[in-house]
Amino acid sequence: MKSNETVLITGASGGIGKELAILFAKDGFDLVLVARSIDNLLKVKNEIESMSNVKIQLFSKDLSKEDEIVSLEKELNAENIQVDYLVNNAGFGLFGEFAATNLDEELNMIDLNIRTVTHLTKLFLKGMIERNKGGVMNIASTAAFQPGPLMAVYYASKSYVLSFTEALSNEMKGTNIKVTAVCPGATERILENVLICMNQIYSKVE
Ligand SMILES: NC(=O)c1ccc[n+]([C@@H]2O[C@H](COP(=O)([O-])OP(=O)(O)OC[C@H]3O[C@@H](n4cnc5c(N)ncnc54)[C@H](OP(=O)(O)O)[C@@H]3O)[C@@H](O)[C@H]2O)c1
Repeated sequence: MKSNETVLITGASGGIGKELAILFAKDGFDLVLVARSIDNLLKVKNEIESMSNVKIQLFSKDLSKEDEIVSLEKELNAENIQVDYLVNNAGFGLFGEFAATNLDEELNMIDLNIRTVTHLTKLFLKGMIERNKGGVMNIASTAAFQPGPLMAVYYASKSYVLSFTEALSNEMKGTNIKVTAVCPGATERILENVLICMNQIYSKVE
């Protein structure tokens, strides 16, 4: 059954974001899907359209760049798209000793995992408060609960997401707006990558 409500999901061209898009579509939500790769977004759109009749709109944006978030907002306004629910899912991690990892990549991770989550939440929460309806789901991680040697910046970034979400959830008490952090453990794809990295590190030690 259609809900006539719209959820914007970042990083919906694969992985957890794609699976969430499928679940929201099954619940009848119209979808606004955002990621960099329009080809992958189109594949997700086709797959979901083969199983449901929700409206799906795609936006190709690099959300680690502030000007692309601003252009996303403008395009949503121009098309009169109201975001009822926001899922901040786009994010990534890097593996390696902090002294040896690439600073630019890490700053880009902080931009996407922290700045973008903050920026998008600020953009859409105001409308939710005016309507006294809606929700924000932030994808944190089990990494949020402790420091993570060899993934120091990623773990710290997810601590921010969890702390930020819990604080907002408290601020929204007494309203109809739910702010939720999801803290998944490693998926199969990530576990495979971690094993490859561990093997590389151990082969250097031996
Ligand atoms: N997988 C895990 O084990 C795991 C565990 C705990 C938490 N998490 C968290 O769950 C979230 C999703 O992880 P995942 O493993 O499903 O990731 P994934 O498979 O690598 O997918 C990441 C998604 O984010 C998009 N994305 C990446 N950089 C982007 C950017 N700069 N601008 C816009 N979109 C961007 C990607 O699409 P494009 O490349 O097309 O942009 C893709 O759709 C992340 O926040 C991650 O930290 C994952």
